[in-house]
Parts: sequence; structure tokens; C-alpha cells
Amino acid sequence: MVYLISDANWWRQAVIYQIYPRSFADANGDGIGDLKGITSRVPYLKALGVDAVWMSPFYPSALKDGGYDVADYRDIDPKIGTLEDFDEMSAALKAAGIKVMVDIVPNHSSDDHEWFQAALKAGKGSAERERYIFRDGLGPNKDQAPTDWICTFGGPAWSPSGVDDGQWYFHWFDSSQPDFNWEHPDVKADFLKTLRFWGDRGVSGFRIDVAHGLTKDMKEPLPDWKELSDMTTRKLTSGNAGLDHPLYDRDEVHDIYRSWRKLFNQYNPPLMAVAEAWVAPDRKGLYASSDGLGQAFSFDILLCNFDADEYRECIDRSLEASKESKSSTTWVLSNHDVMRHASRFGLPNVPNANLPVSQIALNQFLLDKFQVQKVDIESGLKRARAATLMILALPGSTYIYQGEELGLQEVVEINEEERQDPIFRRTEGKDVGRDGCRVPIPWVANERNFGYGLGKPAHLPQPDWMAQYAVDVEEKDSNSTLSTYRRAIQLRKKLQTSEDLEWVDNSNKDVLHFRRPNGWEILVNTGRAEVDMPASSKVLISSSGSTLEGNKVPGETTVWFQGA
Ligand code: GLC
Ligand code: CA
Repeated sequence: MVYLISDANWWRQAVIYQIYPRSFADANGDGIGDLKGITSRVPYLKALGVDAVWMSPFYPSALKDGGYDVADYRDIDPKIGTLEDFDEMSAALKAAGIKVMVDIVPNHSSDDHEWFQAALKAGKGSAERERYIFRDGLGPNKDQAPTDWICTFGGPAWSPSGVDDGQWYFHWFDSSQPDFNWEHPDVKADFLKTLRFWGDRGVSGFRIDVAHGLTKDMKEPLPDWKELSDMTTRKLTSGNAGLDHPLYDRDEVHDIYRSWRKLFNQYNPPLMAVAEAWVAPDRKGLYASSDGLGQAFSFDILLCNFDADEYRECIDRSLEASKESKSSTTWVLSNHDVMRHASRFGLPNVPNANLPVSQIALNQFLLDKFQVQKVDIESGLKRARAATLMILALPGSTYIYQGEELGLQEVVEINEEERQDPIFRRTEGKDVGRDGCRVPIPWVANERNFGYGLGKPAHLPQPDWMAQYAVDVEEKDSNSTLSTYRRAIQLRKKLQTSEDLEWVDNSNKDVLHFRRPNGWEILVNTGRAEVDMPASSKVLISSSGSTLEGNKVPGETTVWFQGA
């Protein structure tokens, strides 16, 4: 049976490319990537063959958290462009057959947002303060935070209002990111307005930041930090629907998403949305349901070691979960919050049970290892390419993070004063943060700033070794990571029809073998020794180069072939 992906379902098996706008391409040479830079690189995206781009925030922002501190949800940061530039970029992408998704950050705004500024000005007890979470401090002088909670980025989760009225505001992230009070009708109405604004501007969907956060129960008595962090771990690992966590994965959050879904369905095709939800597997489906956001990120594959058993278990679990919610699953190996996977795979495996549960904790865990362990760059890149060919062959949508298609490594050579991630500052340098995967990407080896921009140096320093990963270098090499991504994405388009997958038994514990419709077969060798190809099979692509010697699959390699 040939299954046609109807327009309304375009996202179910799409390849989506994440652009971190300030680090993609700098058209006016001020060192900061901009929308015109993206427009100039549309031919590159077209050649890569992606179905859509997801743009990390481009809104006006003081960049205290890389743009996830939004001062105005319905405008463009003047440092990187205008709404006209956005329209021009969208038109160029559309002409290339590429859809646009934008990032919505509803859990918190920037402290520069006009509502937060108005709240500070209007003072204690005012209607303006109701849109955020303000509480009186403790102690006779109200100079102690209302609770002892630690925020996600380290340091206290409350900051004084700064206007000497004994009040503190809650921020689950940086102090520049005050959390909204989602019980407030203005907040609900304003986000519907924002979603409509971008929907009417022609975007096809949204990535929803911290989707499990929004609704909170801040009634006294609030648990202390120890109790709260125990609850968080339980929530993340075992779901625990009955657990009344004040900040996390509360059932009421789905009322919001149901109201958003009604709006999404007024568009033709309906707008899609993918939730960034750090919740237990049994709670994911609520976010991915068709009367909710529709899809939820799964980071499970990112948490796996390069190991056939772990992959098989994770693939089965993810496909099962998406079947239940009637959504499609997502596959992610890299994004702007974690160490680049080419470097991650160059580190020794760890017992899975020891992996941290949240993405930010994971990144720190990996970076700590990165400092003390020797990274095997060659094996890391081989494994990264093999893992990518594996996920590109799985049912569901694949999210690619800019630069991974070049096999880029994590950048560690960033001096303290150049670091931008608030995590670095808030932990007094104990955690280096996420800047290493956000360094602007190399386009041309022999140009200034590797062709990222021809003016000032990039806003995060680009080390010399980046030259070997530049687009112009990799384009000339038919076995480069870029050429492999391009070929694989083109092939996937031709081969992918239904969302079925069938396992083929193999006695080698380092081998995964599965079959997709139309005789498309995939063999993943996670071991270091070579293994035999099944007899009479025609190789379509291999992650380690175009030809395979003597019908053998090398170690740390994925091959796609046409079965007999
Ligand atoms: C999400 C984003 C991350 C950001 C945080 C706060 O986890 O992916 O980059 O720092 O939310 O908005
Ligand atoms: Ca610029």
C-alpha cells in the first residue's frame, strides 16, 4: 500500500532543521547572525532537503538566555532584523518548499517585557503584579526569599523586586526570566494573540518551550527545596499523575493546549506544535494528543549510549508511546541545549541508569566528562553519522540542529569573559553551560569568520579547527558528513511511505536490523568489529563512505540497503 502524506500530516515524518538565528549567518557583519543571513542561505537548506525549519527565538531580547528571554512576542529583535525581513525569509523558504516553525516561550517573559516593567512600577498589590508571581519575602524585613528553591540554571529561584517593597518574584530560569501567572486571563489571551499573529504571517507550526511548566500551584504551604527536588525526580522518571508538584507537569496545563488546538485547527492545514516537555514517558502522550499540541519531543534517544540493545529498547518504547497518543514520535540527537553529538559519542559509554534526567543536567554531566576524559574524535564522528542514519530511517520526524550535518564538534575553547550562558554565571563557573554548541557555524574555510559574516568576529569565538568542517570543504567531498546527510535525506524522501517498522532478528548483540516498507532495510553495527551484510542486498548508503568492501559492514556504521 502506498501511503500519501497528506498536507495536514506533513510533520509526521518530516525532517526539521533547527536554526539558532544568531549563530547561523551574519549578513551585515556585526558579528550576530540575522534574518537576512538566513535568507541568503536558503539554497543551502534546499540542497539539504529539509521539510521545515524551526527557528529558535528571534524576538527582541536582551539575550540574557540566548533569546529565550523575550521582551515582545510579536516582533523581531532589531539587532537581527525586522518583520519585513521575516516575511522575506519566509517567502524564500516557501519558494524552496520549506515550512517555518517558530519557538514560543510561554512559561516566562524577559524582565524587559512591558508587563513586567509595569508590574514593578505599579507596586505591591497592583493588578499589574498579578500577571507574574510575586510574593512577600520572609523575615521581619522581608529580605529573605519566600522559599529556598534553586532555579534550573543554579542560584535562587526568587529575586527581590528591586523597588524596595519587600516583594520577590519567581523565576524557574534566570532572574531575567520572570514566570507568568497562567491563571491570569490576560496571559491566556495574549498568547492566543501571539499564536494567531504568527499563524497569520504564514508559519506552519510552533515549538513550545518548557511546555510542562506554565501552570503552577503557588498556594501556601509550599514544599522546601529538598521535597520539591524529590518530587521533580519522581515526576520525571515515574510520571506519578497523582503527585501534586507545584511547578511541573500539572494536569491544568492541558486546558491551555486544548484552547490553542482550537486556534490551530482554524488554519488549513492546521498548525502543528511540538512540546518541549521534560516529563515521564507515561505523561508524554497528554502533550502529543490530537486535542493538545499534537507532538512532543522525545529526548530518549539522546540519552542512550551508542549501543544496539539500548537503541532497540528506546525505539520500541518511543514508537509504542506515539501509537498510543496517535502522534508520531520525534528523534533528536542534538539541539542548542546539549553537547554536540559528534563529541558526545567520542566519550566512553556510561551505565544508562546513571544518566541525569533533565536536559540541562545531562549537558553538564557530559561536559564534566568532556573535561576529564579524552574524546575519541574519530570514533565520535563515525558513531554520530551512524546514529544519524539510524534515526533518519525510523518512522517519525527527525530534528537536525544546525552544524550537526557538518559533523561539528562541541567548542570548549571559550574564555570565561566570552561565555554567554547564564548557567555559567549563576553557578559561578562550576557549570560551563551551553555555549559550546552555539558557536556560529563555518561556511567557507578560507574566508573571514569562516564565511559566517564578513565583518566583526562572531559573537562566540570560532576556533581554527572549524575550517575543516566548513560547508565549502565538505561539499567537495562526496563522503563528507554533509554529503552523507544530503544523500540520506533525499533517499529517505523516496523510500519513506508508511510508518511501519519490522525488526529482523540478528544474533549479534551489536547489530540492529530493521525493515521499512518497499524493501528498505537498515543495519546498524554499534560494535567495533565488521559484520556481514545480508546476502544479495544492494547497498543504498553507508554512514562510513559510499562503498563497502567485500560485503562487510565496518564497525560503528549504519547501512541502508534494498533487501532481496
Ligand atoms: C528551554 C530552552 C532553553 C532555555 C529554557 C528557558 O529548555 O530550550 O534553551 O534556556 O527553555 O527558556
Ligand atoms: Ca548581523
